[in-house]
Amino acid sequence: MTIATTSPETATALNTMLDDVVTGLSQSQKTLPSKYFYDEHGSKLFDDICELDEYYVTRTESALMQTHVVEIAAAVGPEAILVEYGSGSSQKTRLLLEHLDRPAGYVPVDISSEYLAKTGRALQAEFPHINVVPVAADFTEVFGVPNSVPVSARKVIYFPGSTIGNFRRPDAIELLSRMSGVAGSSGGILIGVDLDKNRDVLHNAYNDSSGVTAEFNLNVLRRINRELGGSFDLTGFRHNAIFNPSDACIEMHLVSTRRQTVNVCKYVFEFEENETILTEYSHKYTLDSFRQIAEEARLSVKNTWTDANDMFAVLYLEAD
Ligand code: TRP
Repeated sequence: MTIATTSPETATALNTMLDDVVTGLSQSQKTLPSKYFYDEHGSKLFDDICELDEYYVTRTESALMQTHVVEIAAAVGPEAILVEYGSGSSQKTRLLLEHLDRPAGYVPVDISSEYLAKTGRALQAEFPHINVVPVAADFTEVFGVPNSVPVSARKVIYFPGSTIGNFRRPDAIELLSRMSGVAGSSGGILIGVDLDKNRDVLHNAYNDSSGVTAEFNLNVLRRINRELGGSFDLTGFRHNAIFNPSDACIEMHLVSTRRQTVNVCKYVFEFEENETILTEYSHKYTLDSFRQIAEEARLSVKNTWTDANDMFAVLYLEAD
């Protein structure tokens, strides 16, 4: 098994990261792009988040998949290629792969190439009859699906975990329409969407008591220190996730606990006490508000699976 990569050479990748970091930290509301969470350590911490009692998302989605896997596999259909965006440890995918009817391939796409290599090898061993073709790429950019998968096969994009919620609405619409382009008119999109719910439940899911989410959020600063020679003092920042009711989204912040100066390469950034870096959004949808953004991407909702408490939805979409 070889890993196709569309990532640039390391030096170029570091330049891009430096540009992104400098641009983000130069805004009046400082930001950092969330894709930089996912180095190997960050990917591991994210898996730990998924195991937390307070983080209902993974558990609820897995249960939903388990209950409806036969119907879901039928929606994906026979001899399809499953292309998973942001596959991480591909944990939720195993069940689906077990139930698919003679899949023509499984293409996990993830930004963390080290992590992808490990999970790719493990999956290929578990599913010897499925052609596993990992692609190391940023799925928000254009990437190629290697020609070891049959071009003619029907493609279904799998996008679980409510990762769509991590995009602001216009970007979510653009991503959905790009996915639709990759799937083509005969394909589809199987997507997990976290639903709006009780504020305390949301608050606790993103401010867990054991501090794993805080570790995960702070890890982006550790990565900047290591890869870009940054001088972030990790004890000078704390994690805080807040709900923004006007956008129905959780915002993840890193709060500067004091006035301080941070260097990244030759760049200097000043922080006031309590000034924040916004690192991630997690939008919460209703079935209706999600249908609206799908429609804006010229997609129709063909199937909807939800749990008894309407915490989470798995939807199957097709181009109009
Ligand atoms: N897709 C996940 C979500 O929105 C990502 C996530 C969970 C996350 N916890 C986080 C991202 C903490 C950043 C920080 O639920």
